[in-house]
Amino acid sequence: MEKLIVANWKAEKNISEASSWVKTIRHILEESVVKVVICPDFVSIPVVRGLLKDTSVGLGAQDISSEDKGPHTGEVVVDSLKGLVDYVILGHSERRSGQAETTTMIIKKVGHADRVGITPIVCFSSLEEVRDYHKSHGPTEKIYFAYEPLLAIGTDKPQGSEEAKKHLESFKEILGDIDLLYGGSVEENNVRSYLSVGFQGVLVGNASLNEEQFAKIVRIANDNKSL
Ligand code: PGA
Repeated sequence: MEKLIVANWKAEKNISEASSWVKTIRHILEESVVKVVICPDFVSIPVVRGLLKDTSVGLGAQDISSEDKGPHTGEVVVDSLKGLVDYVILGHSERRSGQAETTTMIIKKVGHADRVGITPIVCFSSLEEVRDYHKSHGPTEKIYFAYEPLLAIGTDKPQGSEEAKKHLESFKEILGDIDLLYGGSVEENNVRSYLSVGFQGVLVGNASLNEEQFAKIVRIANDNKSL
């Protein structure tokens, strides 16, 4: 599948900050030949969608409910996002640890997303999580995985690309020839190294919050699109 450069804004931007970010670098994002995916919080999704209309920039959510449509106060079910987003990040370590999200829940979420044609990006931080997922996952049309080592997330301590590559190979031994992104302190000075060792893209947290920094990452990915 195509390479992805994903911006994960987490809970860092309100609607007005999200709009201003998109307006500032929309011209750069729409020229990108490498697929860019922006993941705002739920509240900003419709606004960002409007601003990205008629561009090939992808839009993603940061999670969905493991439940189906029904009496689940406070949940956002996949049917509510259908037609609004093309991708969804699932199983992020901040949800696994902060919200006690289990592999069983993540597998249900993957099934919901797949059913409505939203492409899941399933995050793993360890081989145990990959093995656990592999034991009971179902078939999917289209799926990406993201390797995000815990010690590298939000710490400015990225895992070296050669070490990350070893994990990429171990994940592939279990899951087959998957499309795997790298996430964890990705920035302009290291993005090329992950693309060059075989990752199918990157998941960018902190460095995606500043539009200039993110635009630089997108430019570097474009300059290295044939890697
Ligand atoms: P980071 O976050 O780039 O700030 O390390 C990545 C992520 O958590 O997806």
